[in-house]
Amino acid sequence: MQCDKLKKQVSLAALDYVPNNSMIGFGSGSTILYFIKALYKTKKKIFGAVSSSYYTTLMLHKYGIQVFELSTVSHPIIYVDSADEINDNLEMIKGGGGALTNEKIIAATSEKFICIIHESKLVKQLGRFPLPIEIIPMAYTYVLKKIIQLGGKPKYREGYVTDHGNIIIDVYDLNLGNPSEIENLINSIPGVVTVGLFSINTPDIVLIGTKSGIKILK
Ligand code: 5RP
Repeated sequence: MQCDKLKKQVSLAALDYVPNNSMIGFGSGSTILYFIKALYKTKKKIFGAVSSSYYTTLMLHKYGIQVFELSTVSHPIIYVDSADEINDNLEMIKGGGGALTNEKIIAATSEKFICIIHESKLVKQLGRFPLPIEIIPMAYTYVLKKIIQLGGKPKYREGYVTDHGNIIIDVYDLNLGNPSEIENLINSIPGVVTVGLFSINTPDIVLIGTKSGIKILK
């Protein structure tokens, strides 16, 4: 089965976790776009949305869902997002789409974090996908030096500016054997806004679209 079919399948499965009339947090990326479309087609009505990116906001508006500022609502009941890689401990790499900072904030403030992926995102060890890091532009060379000292090979994400006006580097070949240690280390470098490692705050439920149906990890 193709990736797109699996993304569609897992988006439909996520609808079961959406309480009626609730505030829902939305991640970013192609899987979430399928989820927004699935929600639009179902009879289920949500109260409103908190969005993790400008693009997701555009899509939510297109499908008639009202978007609220996170700081003006109590907190989302669930946050639905996807990932670039996830391991057996539910630790993830995210940020392929560049929305990692808002994604981490909304994930942290939501009651329940539901991650929806297709099976090729499951890995034994994190790190095949380059690790995105959002950086304040003036700290670029300093952060680069620190990442190289940690053993990573950083690459500037050409032509990309985050919703916060910052830049992103994608880091190759970093040893992510101890994800939470690396997450804390990178977070402590001055100039780093967010590292796309989600190992301290992991999802509560992971729904996986596979050729043989939906699998659930908790
Ligand atoms: C965006 C993300 C996305 O969740 C991740 O890139 C997966 O995207 P897709 O659903 O398109 O495979 O972290 O910042």
